[in-house]
Amino acid sequence: MKVAVGCDHAGFVLKNAVLDFLRAKGLEPLDFGAFSEEGGDDYPDVALKVARAVSSEEAACGVLMCGTGAGVSIAANKVSGVRAVPCHTAEMARLARAHNDVNVITLGGRVIKPEQVPDILEAWFSTSFEGGRHLQRLNKIAVAEKSTAICGNTLEGAGRTVIFDHPLVQHKVGIIRRKDTTVKQFRELLQEIAGLMVYEVTRSLPLTEIEVETPIAKTTVRTLAGKKLAIVPVLRAGLGMVDGILQIVPNAKVGHIGLYRDPETLNPVEYYCKLPQDIQERDVFVLDPMLATGGSAAAAISLIKKRGGKKVSLVCLIAAPEGIERVHKEHPDADIFIAALDSHLNDHGYIVPGLGDAGDRLFGTK
Ligand code: RB5
Repeated sequence: MKVAVGCDHAGFVLKNAVLDFLRAKGLEPLDFGAFSEEGGDDYPDVALKVARAVSSEEAACGVLMCGTGAGVSIAANKVSGVRAVPCHTAEMARLARAHNDVNVITLGGRVIKPEQVPDILEAWFSTSFEGGRHLQRLNKIAVAEKSTAICGNTLEGAGRTVIFDHPLVQHKVGIIRRKDTTVKQFRELLQEIAGLMVYEVTRSLPLTEIEVETPIAKTTVRTLAGKKLAIVPVLRAGLGMVDGILQIVPNAKVGHIGLYRDPETLNPVEYYCKLPQDIQERDVFVLDPMLATGGSAAAAISLIKKRGGKKVSLVCLIAAPEGIERVHKEHPDADIFIAALDSHLNDHGYIVPGLGDAGDRLFGTK
């Protein structure tokens, strides 16, 4: 197993102790420097090298040292997937692994002595991550790392979770969650929230210039380019978002996907799928108010891709970290747009705190 190791001049005093420990354990250190106690180096440089080696899986984990262990951990934690924590006692190292699955341990050359290193590292290497409730917490951190809370910034790239923090959206989500919200109000709110989300969901649609004539003069205006949009509600709750979106983009084509869960395998099975014929030329938005386990959302995106869909995103009202993880894992290219990120799923697969069964609340079937 490879272990990335790095320090600045102030952490150098600990490095030999770290390297000796790793070699004695039969591990393979990848030494990213520094190679002397001479100053002039800056800890973020080495911290980022080690963190990137861990994030890219070039190394299974990392050990970083500076004067306090603080600077290198702050820098390392900027790299996606890295969890770096200063550990100056064996107990801290044990808990940091058991509860936080820390993959980079950091040490301060001005805080501990080289003789303390073996105990600390031994505690870290001999402890396993406990998972369970701790995994639920790490999932939330992973989602936050991938999330962009939007308030008008441009959204480039793909594969992100975008959480809408607009006050109007948040206000309406607060009402739709309430158990005393009537079916009529629920329907109206779901359409309104979906409509408000359209502005940001469509932010990266390409524009082209055309010439028009105003009553005063000829001018150039911008118009949406290409074949534009398709929206695909997942039956049945996704239907509750369609009209709200069509009010803003009335020319969008609408497909439909019906999925049920096989009682034996628990996998989603398609029972209906009708998509616009030119789906491959459109930006496709799958609509499903609740992203719980992510099983049906991921299956819906797969179905659309199988039929030629190239740019597929998911638009939801409320999501659980479990669902976001699954969709990102199965479809790393798909953006997920949500109005709220909730805590977790309960034993029945409902999002907590959520809003209950969106389909039943939308159609009054319970
Ligand atoms: C370098 O003198 C020192 O500031 C650095 O090693 C570290 O302690 C920062 O957190």
